[in-house]
Amino acid sequence: MQKQEAWWKGAVIYQLIPRSFADGNADGIGDLQGLANRLGYLRWLGVDAIWLTPLYPSPLEDGGYDITDFKDIHPELGDLASFHRFLTAAHDQGIKVILDLVLNHTSVLHPWFQRARWAKKGSQERDVYVWNDDENRYCDAPVLFRKFESSNWEWDEVAQQYYFHRFLRHQPDLNYENSWVQDQMLEVIDFWIERGVDGFRLDAVPFLFESEGSRCEGLPETHAFLKKVRQRVDSHSRDILLLAEAIQPINEAASYLDDKELHGAFNFVLTAHLFAAVANGECKQLRLCLEKSQQAVSGSRWALPLRNHDELWLGDGHLIPVGIIQTIRDGLHQGHGHWLNWGINRRLAPLLNGDLRANRLLNALLYSLPGMPCIYYGDELGMGDWPGLRDRDPNRTPMAWTSVRNGGFSSAPDPLLVLPPITSPGYDYRVVNVEVQKQLPGSLLNWHRRMLTCRRLLPALRHGDFKLLESSHPSVIVYSRTCETMTVLVAANFSAAGSSLRLDLSKWKGKRTREVLWGCEYPTADKDWFIYLPSYGFSWWLIGEVDDSIR
Ligand code: GLC
Ligand code: CA
Repeated sequence: MQKQEAWWKGAVIYQLIPRSFADGNADGIGDLQGLANRLGYLRWLGVDAIWLTPLYPSPLEDGGYDITDFKDIHPELGDLASFHRFLTAAHDQGIKVILDLVLNHTSVLHPWFQRARWAKKGSQERDVYVWNDDENRYCDAPVLFRKFESSNWEWDEVAQQYYFHRFLRHQPDLNYENSWVQDQMLEVIDFWIERGVDGFRLDAVPFLFESEGSRCEGLPETHAFLKKVRQRVDSHSRDILLLAEAIQPINEAASYLDDKELHGAFNFVLTAHLFAAVANGECKQLRLCLEKSQQAVSGSRWALPLRNHDELWLGDGHLIPVGIIQTIRDGLHQGHGHWLNWGINRRLAPLLNGDLRANRLLNALLYSLPGMPCIYYGDELGMGDWPGLRDRDPNRTPMAWTSVRNGGFSSAPDPLLVLPPITSPGYDYRVVNVEVQKQLPGSLLNWHRRMLTCRRLLPALRHGDFKLLESSHPSVIVYSRTCETMTVLVAANFSAAGSSLRLDLSKWKGKRTREVLWGCEYPTADKDWFIYLPSYGFSWWLIGEVDDSIR
């Protein structure tokens, strides 16, 4: 019998923050009941999986990435019983569920840390975290949240030692040299798999181990532990996705994708190059990045986000020329940028100055490049953000469902809301919301839904081979996706001006060509095949004889 493809190959992932998505009990905070009530929407939109940012008990110093109990649910979101109800409902709708798994650190309020700081120096209990008598250890490890922290060490009065933290001082790093820590975290994985989850997004994977004289990123010991994670997951004989968050150059991110390690990794470099291509109307660097990504590992292993709950990373000038970073920083052209620690804390639509053509262009690439496209909740509406809020809160505000008060997110009194809904000009929830956009045939939301429907009808986009084609125009990228049954040709124009070009389709000479999104016939494929793409325009063509219902 033929082995079934893993569920996550080419899956469309919808990322959401449970606290900001839908409030089921009118206390102003999104929760699992609210989310369960909205599963019909996600099914209607056509996504395959949802990734939930952490839903564990937490004092929320870092959006829930500071955890006090890995095996429970934050009481504001629900409990294990409501998680079970939500998961069953998601599965009934055919939607997979991916949890965020934070291996690197806990909250300072985690009982393990409280026990550690009171325990004797050098004891087993103390050893669960990384301590030192001074700050002169692991000095080559860069501070990541440099807006909030100036050192990776924090003095603890009770312990009379410093503890190590790669992120906020509220997030002490677990000591992976300690086998007890490893066993505990492997048990956490068992716990959630036994409760039925379909995958994990592994937070901050590069940082698990430390070593003197290194940046403390991606050390061999870290890879060895991740292989144990994989073994543990495989022992459950279910198809579980392990997806790495490593905000690093392509080859480093790909290093987690050894066949015995993780299944997928986000391609943040590609995300940066997509924005860069829009900013300067040129796609040479984007092409090189795609080539490099393919060489590093098969395309299906990459997950591709445009935006997420964090900053937009542009790689400190070594990935993308400084001038282009500046353009993106300045909100592409009009001075709307906001720089936080190492990137921009804004949503997709405002980053693109509300330009719908550029927005559709980037999403059309997302849906046709190889791998797992990741939609960030609200970006399918072109939702706005609140630049004045602290940290990454600008891009974490409540989902806009309807035109009623608070966008239908919650009926609680305004001061109780988790974050203020968007009412800024051009992005007001009374206009930019699900209900309104469902009714407008030309809305961004209906466009996303149509694109996802097309994607489902075109298996070549889900798991076909990827090939870059020659393009005679510097603003236009051209590629094909081919599986056993079909070839889809894609062309995308990163210029704000229209672009015409000649393509050499002699490889498919004499074959019928049809544009899928608009349903129009083109001349048969030939050596000289001419196309015109309007400002930020793109097309998907089916090449050859394929069932006419696909159009
Ligand atoms: C990851 C998360 C980010 C969090 C950090 C520390 O980068 O995406 O939101 O702050 O890890 O856990
Ligand atoms: Ca609630």
